[in-house]
Amino acid sequence: MRELGRRLAKLLRAGDLVMLSGELGAGKTTMTRGLGEGLGVRGAVTSPTFVIARVHPSLGDGPPLVHVDAYRLAGGLDEMEDLDLDVSLPESVIVVEWGEGKVEELTEDRLQIAIHRAVGTAPAGDGTEPAETDEVRHVVLTGLGERWADAPLETLTG
Ligand SMILES: Nc1ncnc2c1ncn2[C@@H]1O[C@H](COP(=O)(O)OP(=O)(O)OP(=O)(O)O)[C@@H](O)[C@H]1O
Ligand SMILES: [Mg+2]
Repeated sequence: MRELGRRLAKLLRAGDLVMLSGELGAGKTTMTRGLGEGLGVRGAVTSPTFVIARVHPSLGDGPPLVHVDAYRLAGGLDEMEDLDLDVSLPESVIVVEWGEGKVEELTEDRLQIAIHRAVGTAPAGDGTEPAETDEVRHVVLTGLGERWADAPLETLTG
């Protein structure tokens, strides 16, 4: 997930909104960490406990990364008004965890990333012991709007 984030960062520019979905522990923050590394921003991307949004300024001349964890927000954009995401979006890359039904009105151009975690066990190579398979993630990237119409998203996987 981290490597995927690093690769995706190369496609991102100011004004991009990325929405990450997937259950608890799916790897949303892990992917955002890779995005931060790929964008070359300051500070480690972490799972905020109280902080809802954190701005990671660029170490170079790229856009800052705004990392939002909307898990604790029940309402929509209204409740996040203090964050002024609409103001920062044009010059930032905004990544939102748990943003469904909350941040869509920011822009019609969105990259939606759904992370599916396969939980369960599978036979180990030698067939003697079951091995955990929950390290495997299936990721579906959906680009919405003109911004993503011709984006080479398929180059990120495989
Ligand atoms: N293939 C993988 N991709 C992502 N994370 C993985 C993978 N394998 C193991 N992990 C681990 O799973 C955990 C994922 O946690 P992470 O904080 O990224 O999830 P999250 O989706 O942000 O969860 P939350 O909804 O609680 O914010 C990390 O501890 C990470 O090391
Ligand atoms: Mg998280």
